[in-house]
Amino acid sequence: MTQIGIIAGSLRKNAYSKKVANELANLLPFQLNPIFIDIGQLPLYNADLDADNLVPAWETFRHQLDDVAGLIIVTPEYNRGTTAALKNAFDVGSKRHNHWKYKTALVVSSSPEATGGFGANQQVRQALVTLNVTPVQRPEVYLGNISHLFNGQDLITDPAAITLLQTAINAFVKLQARFEIESVESSPLIRYEPGHFYIDGQDGNLLAEIIFHNQQNKRIVITNTRVNERIRSQGIANQLTLRVIRFAQIHELTIIPDCTYAQYFVKKHPEYQQLFTE
Ligand SMILES: Cc1cc2nc3c(=O)[nH]c(=O)nc-3n(C[C@H](O)[C@H](O)[C@H](O)COP(=O)(O)O)c2cc1C
Repeated sequence: MTQIGIIAGSLRKNAYSKKVANELANLLPFQLNPIFIDIGQLPLYNADLDADNLVPAWETFRHQLDDVAGLIIVTPEYNRGTTAALKNAFDVGSKRHNHWKYKTALVVSSSPEATGGFGANQQVRQALVTLNVTPVQRPEVYLGNISHLFNGQDLITDPAAITLLQTAINAFVKLQARFEIESVESSPLIRYEPGHFYIDGQDGNLLAEIIFHNQQNKRIVITNTRVNERIRSQGIANQLTLRVIRFAQIHELTIIPDCTYAQYFVKKHPEYQQLFTE
């Protein structure tokens, strides 16, 4: 499976950029596995310390970069540019040798202002030139008025915003496929709406879906998993369930398997057992 690094440019706990990063990770196809990379623990770059290999956090971060093929970078805007934390991460990762190079990227900016962090987005793209990272050119994603986009569970519910993020992810998948893995692009596109992952046929008819509902105490319940016979025997139900599992992991939820397939899945995959509850 291809690993994709997810980097949010803000350090604060309730950062909108972290919530947007979660949404983007949730929209990735199953074959691209999100790895959340924390840049908050990186000391400011200082070449003197680097010469003597004195900062273990820098080495850990560089190894994390080495392990991913592509990046999703979500930046807030600070004074019309990106954050010091993200700029520092660019600098740290570019030294000893350039650990960013030859990767793909999706750059997304967000802001409570209408301008959606345009200045920060452009500054990140500028740094990616010299870091030799290839970003998705279009769609450009500047998420304005970000404070209005999330519901009480930190999920984006606005269909237009989800569509924009899915379009951006699709462009990222296409770019990633050109770089290495055509199999991702050729498998059916799983779409997302809150409480629902699904696949539409070319005629617009629903071909497969998994439905889950929020419960109290950070639990979700899977109530239905179904796959049309036209696309059976391709592991689709498995992929849909894995998408719900990733959703639960991202949002730190447990899952009640309340349909036959989900119960079968739990028995077959003891490695995920701690995520499931009665
Ligand atoms: C130092 C600082 C500078 C800021 N400058 C801008 C700015 O230039 N443009 C903008 O849209 N918002 C600006 N803001 C507001 C941020 O967009 C807002 O605090 C946002 O929530 C930060 O992103 P986060 O939620 O991901 O932490 C600034 C905030 C801080 C703390």
